[in-house]
Amino acid sequence: MRKVRIGFVGVGNISGTYLKNLTTLFRDIEIAGVCDLIRERAETAAETYRIPKVYDDMYALFADPGVDIVLNITQAYNHYAVTKAALEHGKNVYSEKPLAPTFEQAKELFDLAQSRGLLLGGAPDTFMGAGIQSARRYIDAGLIGTPLGAEARMITHGPESWHPDPAAFYQPAAGPMLDMGPYYVTTLINLLGRVDRVAGMARASFPERVAGCEQRRGERIPVDVPTHVNGILSFENGAVAHLLTTFDVYHPQHSAVEIYGSEGTLFVPNPNNFSGEIQLRRGNEDAVLPLLYGYRENVRGLGLADMARGLLTGRERRADGVQQLHVVEVMTGILRASEEERTVKITTPFERRAPMAAGLPAGMLD
Ligand SMILES: NC(=O)c1ccc[n+]([C@@H]2O[C@H](COP(=O)([O-])OP(=O)(O)OC[C@H]3O[C@@H](n4cnc5c(N)ncnc54)[C@H](O)[C@@H]3O)[C@@H](O)[C@H]2O)c1
Repeated sequence: MRKVRIGFVGVGNISGTYLKNLTTLFRDIEIAGVCDLIRERAETAAETYRIPKVYDDMYALFADPGVDIVLNITQAYNHYAVTKAALEHGKNVYSEKPLAPTFEQAKELFDLAQSRGLLLGGAPDTFMGAGIQSARRYIDAGLIGTPLGAEARMITHGPESWHPDPAAFYQPAAGPMLDMGPYYVTTLINLLGRVDRVAGMARASFPERVAGCEQRRGERIPVDVPTHVNGILSFENGAVAHLLTTFDVYHPQHSAVEIYGSEGTLFVPNPNNFSGEIQLRRGNEDAVLPLLYGYRENVRGLGLADMARGLLTGRERRADGVQQLHVVEVMTGILRASEEERTVKITTPFERRAPMAAGLPAGMLD
């Protein structure tokens, strides 16, 4: 069977993980070419990973009939414009998270893809890894009884200490909710199902941040987004969850996600990773449960490989636009609820994605 050819728009900090995984792991995929506003980044990637083409810009990439899917791994504030342009040029798109910074823009992209018969999807794909997939199987098997609620926490003092271009994280298209929230919301909806209402309270604790990375040490970064965001999520199945995403807090001592059931509690691995420890507390029982699936390393690109499989076979995809749209509506709903001091109804449909198949060789999808 032929391979699906991927064109990279953006070859920055995270691209190395995609480049490595796409050239070594996934069997349905090959890289057609790369482009970046900083051309030498694209040239270095092409040389390192033996990629045949470096395009002058994204429009040259869109014009190449040899590209089946555009991988948009630009900064969050570029996601909407790059994805829109790619769709308008007739390309399927897989985008890093979030799909867009507002629900209206995300919906516009979703509708555009639908109207042109194009595939749209994107990160995160960590929910397809061993950790979240195993947790889901345990919950579905009734180990904790009926799910009642959840506690999810993404606690860090922000990425400015290490990221080479940290200002992007403090603009409205990012912040802790839009930048990291996708991992947590995607996990919660794959464990508990569709969200129907949210509430929120948020603040920006510091008006500016100071870059710590070597390239920009000491640079002052204005903060233009809430950086300590508390959301309450009400699920269609009756469960109620609290989600904290913060760039303001030091030294977390906590588990990332806890799912509370009528019979017990499941401690779920960090949704930013593909695996981790799963723990069950039930009565006097306290057990570490085995992982039941593969994909335990950093296999970013798994969702793209799943999309490629969908393109080849016509089957439904897991990290798709429906899921991304629901996640954007939930996250922006929490921020809106905080701004407008009210609860916000969630309108988009969502059904939990098909579980991963266990036992397939690495790099192959069902
Ligand atoms: N860095 C991480 O650890 C990490 C992890 C997971 C996901 N992500 C997500 O991946 C995305 C990229 O993150 P990053 O850390 O690699 O960012 P980055 O700033 O290091 O790289 C983005 C790259 O995109 C390029 N670019 C922007 N617009 C372009 C255009 N129109 N045409 C061609 N190139 C363009 C920039 O020149 C830059 O090289 C973000 O959405 C981020 O949230 C990052």
